[in-house]
Amino acid sequence: MTAANPYEPVLCKLSEVVEETPTIKTLVLEPRTPMPFRAGQFVQLGIPGVGEAPFTPSSSPLRPERLDVTILKTGMLTDQLHQCRPGETMILRGPFGKGYPVEELDGKEALVVGGGVGLAPLRALIYALLGRMDRLKRMSIKYGARGQSELLYRRMHDEWAGIPKVDFRATIDRPEEGWTGHVGVVTTLLKGVDVDKPNCLVFVCGPGIMLKFTTYELLTEGFKPEQIFLSMNRRMSCGMGKCGRCNIGPYYLCKDGPDMEYSLIKDYPNVF
Ligand SMILES: Cc1cc2nc3c(=O)[nH]c(=O)nc-3n(C[C@H](O)[C@H](O)[C@H](O)COP(=O)(O)OP(=O)(O)OC[C@H]3O[C@@H](n4cnc5c(N)ncnc54)[C@H](O)[C@@H]3O)c2cc1C
Ligand code: FES
Repeated sequence: MTAANPYEPVLCKLSEVVEETPTIKTLVLEPRTPMPFRAGQFVQLGIPGVGEAPFTPSSSPLRPERLDVTILKTGMLTDQLHQCRPGETMILRGPFGKGYPVEELDGKEALVVGGGVGLAPLRALIYALLGRMDRLKRMSIKYGARGQSELLYRRMHDEWAGIPKVDFRATIDRPEEGWTGHVGVVTTLLKGVDVDKPNCLVFVCGPGIMLKFTTYELLTEGFKPEQIFLSMNRRMSCGMGKCGRCNIGPYYLCKDGPDMEYSLIKDYPNVF
């Protein structure tokens, strides 16, 4: 799915702002014309007169008339986006990138591994897969955050855990009062992970350090590089494979990714 005209901005109304954690908000956007996207594709979201930046929608690709974008406050633009109020007009361009290979999962298992705000792009994948659970063998979701206050979409965890053929587990890095769940970084949920390994694809999104150690843990567990898809986040400019700012070897992450099969990139420097 590619934008008819990637330069053409689509106006949208900010209809709701959800406070997820002290530093993360979800903006619910209503584009004037629906913006179909595949899970894992990204959009450029902007405030008129301020600027734009890449974000991966966290909502269901099955509902293109409503686009959620979950944003971690890290600098000037994300700070301004956090200050936006319902009713304001914003600008979307896209979608860009390839998106997750959802169709390759027919008859297989999916293992979804998220760290921190990395659960946002994966939520679109989770929704896409929930829409085709009749074709999937099983979906396991492993999610880690530093502490309870930083767990994303906490209101949905029980719902996901209760869906047949879905296994959801969350962990926090250190023990905290009131937390009875698993403690330890997300890789600790992968030791001896209960999935049909030869018949499973793994999707990982999170900070660079988490991507690195999760990949090593998955390889130790016996997964092959071609089973592992990493959401690669690099500074991007054109979003269309033209400016050369986002490459790993011959691949442009904006065009060939941002989710890349590990086997394709593993031998290039600075992957993580
Ligand atoms: C394909 C793609 C999808 C993304 N999806 C999301 C998402 O769903 N939610 C989300 O919160 N963020 C996402 N990001 C990151 C987001 O684009 C940056 O956080 C944003 O551009 C920061 O802008 P700023 O002006 O607030 O910060 P700046 O002042 O520009 O930067 C502040 C700090 O943020 C970090 N940063 C800046 N740009 C990036 C970047 N492109 N990638 C990673 N870190 C960056 C750097 O550490 C920098 O020092 C995505 C990035 C890409 C490339
Ligand atoms: S952002 Fe320009 S080539 Fe990828």
